[in-house]
Amino acid sequence: PISAELPSDPGLQDRFWYWHGASGRKYIHSVYEPDCCPPLPGAIYVAVRRKGKMRIAMAVGRFTPFWDGVLMSCEAAHVARLKADHGLVPGLAVVLVGEDPASQVYVGAKGKSTVEVGMASFEHKLAADTSEAELLALIGRLNADPAVHGILVQLPLPSHLNSDLVINAIDPAKDVDGFHISNVGLLGTGQKSMVPCTPLGCLMMLRDHHGSLAGMEAVVVGRSNIVGKPMAQLLLGDSCTVTIAHSKTRDLAATCRRADILVAAVGRPEMIPGDWVRPGATVIDVGINRITTPEGKAKLVGDVHFDSAAKVAGAITPVPGGVGPMTIACLL
Ligand code: GUN
Repeated sequence: PISAELPSDPGLQDRFWYWHGASGRKYIHSVYEPDCCPPLPGAIYVAVRRKGKMRIAMAVGRFTPFWDGVLMSCEAAHVARLKADHGLVPGLAVVLVGEDPASQVYVGAKGKSTVEVGMASFEHKLAADTSEAELLALIGRLNADPAVHGILVQLPLPSHLNSDLVINAIDPAKDVDGFHISNVGLLGTGQKSMVPCTPLGCLMMLRDHHGSLAGMEAVVVGRSNIVGKPMAQLLLGDSCTVTIAHSKTRDLAATCRRADILVAAVGRPEMIPGDWVRPGATVIDVGINRITTPEGKAKLVGDVHFDSAAKVAGAITPVPGGVGPMTIACLL
């Protein structure tokens, strides 16, 4: 059923609301909360039973694919309210150095989504041979620019640049990635901080699926600053028993098999087979790897072998479409 107006019936509060945004893209509203997500002019709302949708999604062993839509539509509503009430347009500056193809795709997607929710996007694309001094000078200007509220320097940087130095030059209050040493320290000590968007998206899906994570055995495969380490901190913050496994872990298969929650963030295509997954475990696949199939076709796969893992997992995120869209939604 399609309705052009929001229902007044409070009995409809257990439903998702699909919002066809101005850009033509379909977003999905969470439970209708006028204070959080005011109705937007021209929006069309489609009612879908929330519980029914969840059950269907879980029965096929996947997460509901629309969490990112919930966040994006809420974010668009918040941005609209900031504009209306305060004349403020949030601005995100994204800096890309060099021409790494994957980074170009990610930066393009971030800029597009930023504009879609009504924020200002400032893209700075610099040549691969940009000097450290030039990059630091740009960051200094962005730190001082009142139209820029968030700064993101896409990683990895070319090898002649010191990533730690560059990231720590960002004003911690504008460090939307949560990579600055002071945000890392705040997260590690359980204080309010900017949180890296990829592990935050994973945590939100896990909380949505399980409710409380307390006491669960979580294994994070991968120890990067971008995903592995902050993921472990977030899971610890939710009272999981956390193991960080990596390339030197002695018996990786046995370690993975202990997991109630298995997070794969290693960047190695289909490295984790189904028989490393404990039956009923929840699998979060952060990997996005480009491979060529034996038929010569390009394909995106995760770090987990999806078909075999989906047979044993209680729930699993697909690649593409699982963690990826959540990352940008959480960034915004
Ligand atoms: N490279 C891969 N993931 C990320 C991310 O979340 N932020 C930045 N800045 N670079 C990345």
